[in-house]
Amino acid sequence: MCGIIGYIGKKDAAPILLKGLKDLEYLGYDSAGLVVHSPEALQVVRTPGKIVELEKAMGGKEYPGTMGVGHTRWATHGEPNKVNTHPHLSFDGKFAVVHNGIIENYMTLKNKLMQKGIEFKSDTDSEVVAHLIAHLYKGDVGKAVLQALNMLQGAFGLGIVSLDNPEMLIGARRGSPLLVGIAKDDLFLSSDVAAVIGHTSKVVYLDDNDVVFMRNDGSHRIVNLHSQEVQREVEEVEFSVEHVEKGGFDHFMLKEIFEQPDSIRNCTRGRLLINEGTAKLSGLATNIKELRSIDRIIITACGTSYYAGMVGEYMIEELAGIPVEVEYASEFRYRNPVIGPNTIVLAISQSGETADTLAALKESQRRGATALGICNVVGSTLARESDGGVYLHVGPEIGVASTKAFTAQVSVLAMIALLLGRMRRVSFEQGVEIAQAMQELPAKVQEILKLNDRIKDIASRFTNAPNFLYLGRHYNYPVAMEGALKLKEISYIHAEGYPAAEIKHGPIALIDENMPVVVVAPKDALFEKVLSNIQEIKARKARVIVVTTEANEHLEQFTDEVIVIPSTLSMLMPILTCIPLQLLAYHIAVLRGNNVDQPRNLTKSVMVE
Ligand code: G6P
Repeated sequence: MCGIIGYIGKKDAAPILLKGLKDLEYLGYDSAGLVVHSPEALQVVRTPGKIVELEKAMGGKEYPGTMGVGHTRWATHGEPNKVNTHPHLSFDGKFAVVHNGIIENYMTLKNKLMQKGIEFKSDTDSEVVAHLIAHLYKGDVGKAVLQALNMLQGAFGLGIVSLDNPEMLIGARRGSPLLVGIAKDDLFLSSDVAAVIGHTSKVVYLDDNDVVFMRNDGSHRIVNLHSQEVQREVEEVEFSVEHVEKGGFDHFMLKEIFEQPDSIRNCTRGRLLINEGTAKLSGLATNIKELRSIDRIIITACGTSYYAGMVGEYMIEELAGIPVEVEYASEFRYRNPVIGPNTIVLAISQSGETADTLAALKESQRRGATALGICNVVGSTLARESDGGVYLHVGPEIGVASTKAFTAQVSVLAMIALLLGRMRRVSFEQGVEIAQAMQELPAKVQEILKLNDRIKDIASRFTNAPNFLYLGRHYNYPVAMEGALKLKEISYIHAEGYPAAEIKHGPIALIDENMPVVVVAPKDALFEKVLSNIQEIKARKARVIVVTTEANEHLEQFTDEVIVIPSTLSMLMPILTCIPLQLLAYHIAVLRGNNVDQPRNLTKSVMVE
């Protein structure tokens, strides 16, 4: 996803926009630009690269003006060069537009405008919006914008500045998040609350097809595409600036790894009913009747959320005996999935904005399923469009590689499994045991974080490895997948996660003395089996790093590095075993000199297919 920040008020817009872009940089960092409405002209500055490049390009020059909009881009259409960078100016210089999303019919519109002699400068789909508005403009900006929006197909979050209307900043949303921040004397327009919480805690989340006209007297008006006024609630945002600052850590990712004792506590607070041995999830309160009668669950998600879903599958099947399938949202949406009358679809997404996950949600609703959501970002599209759901409550996750969202997603899934289990076959005693074990997790995570220096030391011995294998069984198989994903994302080392026993069916051929293998092997019912897998790989001279709950000589004999962590119930082990893997990936990436918060080619939220 790209980031949008707009400002209108009494202060100088340029520094506010620049700061907002820095807060949004985790959403896209291929190129950035901004426009300020200066008395005589729209002043645009754009650069490929990160915000620091934009800052350099602005250096020394004055950008007077109290209204404008900026954009930081994760490139989809067109390479991240200067001409493709937003804002895009209309052919007559009267409109500047920033855009998130994809205009699906841009080629048709572009051809029509070109036939009228309008010249396009970029390869983007977004530029067409600026020219279209300018082409339709006959002195009434509101009318031209609405006319243009009615002609667009696809998804957009738009910020529009008009030269003739210095008193007005315009925003529009369809399928791409956009909100208005309301401060005392000024207004903000943003695709993400992270850029406004430094200014205000009052926000209005726009709905699809909302168009907002924000004025420099602090007022705003929202209309639909037929120009009819609509009312949207002003909501109070709970988090504060420290959530979007590094707080003394070198990177957001490390900060978020270290936040996990608190984030798991926040996620489970008030939801674990120890005395009743169950969980209470108010977001599912209206779905309780359905939850009693469901006979199948489909979990759908992407990336890290998908791996959390895999853990959820094991938990729900074990506790509730309900068959669960986990499917990549990108596959689910284009198949012909079988959805019975008692099937529930559970979509998991940290951002609540991942395009494929949202499409899978819609597809399942179209087929009559109740579609529930697990997400972190309050007010996100998933939260609005699902039929019920659970928030993670872990505050904004800024590091592109997801960490605290994963442990919270698994915690929520554990609570859902407990709730469903207690409706079916989990006894009161077992329920109490699970709820108590969950309550002890934050302290155990805290213990694991004390191993940070030791893991950094281990990482220093593996920084040059070209490949990595991650193995785990049962509940720790998804953890192996997630560990491998973390390493790939930020260190750019090729890594694969496998169920430990599967190694004999292929991957073992890759193993030699240069192949590091991370084995997640807590002392549980399958420990001896995993130990025999470790022996197999050690016999091929692999360098073995093991994450376990109990070291012994036997294990040490077959491993190069042993990381010992506290134990918990098997179903909850992923919440603990993933943490050393997060730290390992983090340190390897830092030692390789990578920017772990802004890994190449990635974005925090993929809002395109
Ligand atoms: C991107 C992010 C990942 C994330 C995935 C799914 O690829 O870089 O960290 O796991 O999207 O995101 P979601 O917001 O749907 O959980």
